[in-house]
Amino acid sequence: MESSSSHTYVFNPESPTELARLINQDQMLTQSMGGPFSGLPDTFSLHNILDLGCGSGGWVLDAALALPQAKVKGVDISHIMVDYANARAQTQQLSNASFSIMDISGPLDFPDAGFDLVNARALFAVLKREIWPSFLKECWRMLRPGGFLRLTEPLDVGHTSSAAVNRLGALCTQAISQNGYGFAPDGTFFGVAHLMAHWLQEQGYQHIHKQAHPLDFSAHADPWANQYHNIEVLYYQLKPLIVKMGLIADFAFDRLQQQALADMQREDFFALSFSLTVIGQKQGR
Ligand SMILES: C[S@@+](CC[C@H](N)C(=O)[O-])C[C@H]1O[C@@H](n2cnc3c(N)ncnc32)[C@H](O)[C@@H]1O
Repeated sequence: MESSSSHTYVFNPESPTELARLINQDQMLTQSMGGPFSGLPDTFSLHNILDLGCGSGGWVLDAALALPQAKVKGVDISHIMVDYANARAQTQQLSNASFSIMDISGPLDFPDAGFDLVNARALFAVLKREIWPSFLKECWRMLRPGGFLRLTEPLDVGHTSSAAVNRLGALCTQAISQNGYGFAPDGTFFGVAHLMAHWLQEQGYQHIHKQAHPLDFSAHADPWANQYHNIEVLYYQLKPLIVKMGLIADFAFDRLQQQALADMQREDFFALSFSLTVIGQKQGR
């Protein structure tokens, strides 16, 4: 069994606060993306499905509910995430969904050509930049010919009408980049989404499809409450790292965060972010 002490996540994967954040984020993302399979040409051919770095398991559960004939597996390094996800599979009586512990930054304990779909979402602060090439090779190896790889990553933290929210977002992005994640040359964005189609093309995937997902989290929009919680928890968790790196003083961070949360509660708070899904099909049948 893997120990989450070997994790490469920018957050503590065993934190209950992070579990709660991911439960919220997961619902918000799947909704903004138009469901678990958006962008795939069809779902008839999907019998064995794998989700890498599955977090609280929402994507796997949605996929298992939508496709009762398919077996859907999620793997994650965090015991708390996997236990929660398995408990939810049980309460939802989804016997075709299962979750286990696995470190996705190394070789994966699955046979060659065993999956029709490999899905991975929001790994920009999970996989250090030198890990992406071997991770992509593992995805290719595990897919059967004709199977699909589906990657979804946010471009950045988004753009808002609040200078404080934007400044916190910039600090967070810079801290993540300076700690070895993503390929942004200047640390101003997460630096994964813009390369995904190129990576899939280089690996020999065919029928590469790109789909952008806007997330409007303005004060009047439905995702606002989830994103408010997400931002509150995200910045709280990243504060020690950001302060330790000397990007901002402790008291200045607290003032900025208070201002950001106050701004988000204003009627005239407007905000937009984008994620990108890229899907490729492994050649052959
Ligand atoms: C941002 S969350 C993504 C959650 C999920 N994919 C989603 O879209 O809701 C990142 C997840 O990666 C997991 N993780 C971090 N390092 C990992 C590793 N080396 N191997 C497997 N999972 C890891 C964390 O525990 C966390 O659940």
